[in-house]
Amino acid sequence: MKLSTSFIAVALAFSSAASASASEVQERGILDNLKPLVSSTGLQLLTTKLTLLAHARQFLKFSQLSDGTRAFGSKGHNATVNYIKTLLDATRYYDTELQTFPYLFSSGEATFAVDNSAVESQWFTYGPAGDITAQIVPVANLGCDAADYPAEVEGKIAFISRGTCEFGLKVALAGAAKAAGAIIYNNQPAAVNGGTLGAPERPEVGPYVPVASISGDSAKTILDQIAAGATLTGALHVDATTETRYTSNVIATTKGGDKNNIVFAGGHTDSVPAGPGINDDGSGTITILDIALRLPLFKVNNAVRFGFWTAEEFGLVGSEHYVTSLPAEEAQKIALYLNFDMVASPNYGYFIYDGDGSAFNLTGPAGSDHIEKTFEDFFKSKKVISAPTEFSGRSDYGPFLDVGIPAGGLFTGAEGKKTAEEAKWWGGEAGVDYDICYHKKCDDLSNLNTEAWVLNSKAAAHSIATYARSLNGIPRTKKASVANNRVAALSYDDRRHYSCGHKIESS
Ligand SMILES: *[C@@H]1O[C@H](CO)[C@@H](O)[C@H](O)[C@H]1NC(C)=O
Ligand SMILES: *[C@@H]1O[C@H](CO)[C@@H](O)[C@H](O)[C@H]1NC(C)=O
Ligand SMILES: [Zn+2]
Repeated sequence: MKLSTSFIAVALAFSSAASASASEVQERGILDNLKPLVSSTGLQLLTTKLTLLAHARQFLKFSQLSDGTRAFGSKGHNATVNYIKTLLDATRYYDTELQTFPYLFSSGEATFAVDNSAVESQWFTYGPAGDITAQIVPVANLGCDAADYPAEVEGKIAFISRGTCEFGLKVALAGAAKAAGAIIYNNQPAAVNGGTLGAPERPEVGPYVPVASISGDSAKTILDQIAAGATLTGALHVDATTETRYTSNVIATTKGGDKNNIVFAGGHTDSVPAGPGINDDGSGTITILDIALRLPLFKVNNAVRFGFWTAEEFGLVGSEHYVTSLPAEEAQKIALYLNFDMVASPNYGYFIYDGDGSAFNLTGPAGSDHIEKTFEDFFKSKKVISAPTEFSGRSDYGPFLDVGIPAGGLFTGAEGKKTAEEAKWWGGEAGVDYDICYHKKCDDLSNLNTEAWVLNSKAAAHSIATYARSLNGIPRTKKASVANNRVAALSYDDRRHYSCGHKIESS
């Protein structure tokens, strides 16, 4: 691993031998006490685009280890996790921990062609891989009953309408009828978006067969030709993986500072399977990593903990795992949580989570309002306009809200469109997505706005330094018990799309 940036050298200067003796630990404690108390201006000082980009280049390289993704459990993701842990350990300023656990991974792609002409198609979550070229045989009714599948479907591609019962049942019934594959076409002209078979398998009905969805419009052409007597050959190709993968959160807590009043900052280390995730969430991860590597120049009053979450893209899995594994008395020690997920979007906005509920009527635990104000004050001091964004819990702060921990954070926008007014405030293009490469292959080094990234990194440094000095304004009362654990209650498929703002359909 090549460490090319100067501040890392500074941070590393605080580390010496590979293992510290008791007296070295004591000396370090004395040295730490001689350091200046962390301050907002101090912690902002060394924020540079060069440093941020140096890490981003590493993240992109890691994605190249696994076909351009850093999805959880991939080589690219593991390399990201190891990189972060190694850099933090080298500072000797933190107690670090890998929290490793298993989770089901499922990802795939489907292509379909009829008599060699391609038809736009989509994969279903849990759909098995396979390569089938066979006649297309329409299924009667809606394919919800074994009797709807004619005997001649055996070895062929069952052509099934959407409707009434779940996708998963149709595909298992097709398997029970010995079809080689299946196509489910929409009962509306448009495509089926983000479908799932709902469960990894349905052995009680039949085996799943390779399957894809197509639009109702495409289906009509095919059905009309078959009705006119044509015999059509479909070529269905599905690439897919569904497997349990072990993956890790990285947790790092300053050795110094009051551990009964922890200031927590986090971001997610994984990307979607479709791309390298350099803005989502390379940007947020690197923002806090960069701060974590500069913090050792200072001492802190309150302990600071960094959470580098895995599998956010599968539904806040890493942060949820962390929070639900945390004993209640440990959760009480966390004063607040700051989240940084997508902070360098190319057509950015300076959005702050609406912790006081003034804009979106979703109010966080008491103290969330204070965090929002801390960020607002920062942008005001830089004479930059900021705007609230919905405090929906759709990123890694959700599990913290669920246990009553006040939270806040920054966001530069994903698939929404910039308004004309916002373009006046922040420049960029009105009517265009904040991040046109959101969850795509093109979320790479060119998908970063470094001006927004540097300013947001300073805002993050400001918030961390402010609260590491003092928690004035943050209530330190006993938190409500886990009454309404919204995230834990989600199904696998809800989770998989929870953080993306996508709706996933199962029937
Ligand atoms: C990634 O790390 C996990 C957890 O340590 C390990 O089980 C897995 O084999 C690694 N995967 C790859 C592709 O290196
Ligand atoms: C805000 O939410 C609360 C609780 O869900 C609801 O009772 C109230 O009517 C909402 N207010 C507005 C202005 O929408
Ligand atoms: Zn994200």
